[in-house]
Amino acid sequence: MAKLIGGLGTSHVPSIAAAIDKGLAGTDAWKPFFDGYVPAKEWIARAKPDIAVVIFNDHGNSFFLDRVPTFAVGCAEEYRPVDEGWGPRPIPPFEGAADFSWHLIDTLVDSRFDPMICQEIEVDHGLQVPLELFFGRPEAWPVRVVPIFVNVIQYPIPLPSRCYEMGRVLRQAIESWPGDERVVVIGTGGLSHQLQGSRAGFVNPEADRAFLKDIATDPDRLAAMSRERYVEMFGSEGAELMMWLVMRGAMDRDVVVRHTHYFVPASMTGAGMIVMENAATAEEADPVAPSPGPEAPATDPEVQAA
Ligand code: DHB
Ligand code: FE
Repeated sequence: MAKLIGGLGTSHVPSIAAAIDKGLAGTDAWKPFFDGYVPAKEWIARAKPDIAVVIFNDHGNSFFLDRVPTFAVGCAEEYRPVDEGWGPRPIPPFEGAADFSWHLIDTLVDSRFDPMICQEIEVDHGLQVPLELFFGRPEAWPVRVVPIFVNVIQYPIPLPSRCYEMGRVLRQAIESWPGDERVVVIGTGGLSHQLQGSRAGFVNPEADRAFLKDIATDPDRLAAMSRERYVEMFGSEGAELMMWLVMRGAMDRDVVVRHTHYFVPASMTGAGMIVMENAATAEEADPVAPSPGPEAPATDPEVQAA
């Protein structure tokens, strides 16, 4: 049986990678953002996962709007970072965990989830940036990856509750896998942002802080919210946050929060991060992380902590 050792969530804003590429991570503008990831990087260096299951959305790079799978799972031996138009990035390719990917696909189909199966695909900033945030810039990535693509781009996007259920099946796949790999699940995207339309530039820090709290303590409430409510609360691209529910659904009801961080704005986004372990099998004795910034009352009772 493989072991789920942590559930992580992070924004995947592409300018984070551009800041690293251009040597700007230590500047006044970016340092407070990157400083917040230092404890998470230390946590993952100690935790030593073998496999990272990364839940993210493609942004018109590997799938365009003419063909968008609701859910897709990569089962390749390797995933190259896609060139998003600024030229090839100076990061290594991502080694796949094709054997575990096929087992995950089997488990999903057995559970009446029917994902698209991708034996060859490139991955964009949705996967690249989280790996860079948690692992830095190694010569080779220290984990094998399993990419799970979720359509949060073109309506009809899946229900948040469906994403949460998919996480439960992902957990079953981890626990029915005969290997002894250590697995982290990383939900990516969000937090609040809207990149287009009349609300372009919209961010909602209060709702973001409430989400960072509730994803640990009250995920059922977040899973019960409608898609439209995600768009209203977090912006059209902030609906990416429902992908964190896949990660959360893979975890136990009771979790220990190790680290959180919130920074707004990173580019046009309220950028957040969380590191959780299942309370029953937590491996670290560290104190619980402080809450993400000053307590702010949520503007919406639906996302307000109980
Ligand atoms: C931005 C954020 C995203 O999540 C994304 O996919 C693209 C751009 C931004 O804030 O610039
Ligand atoms: Fe995005």
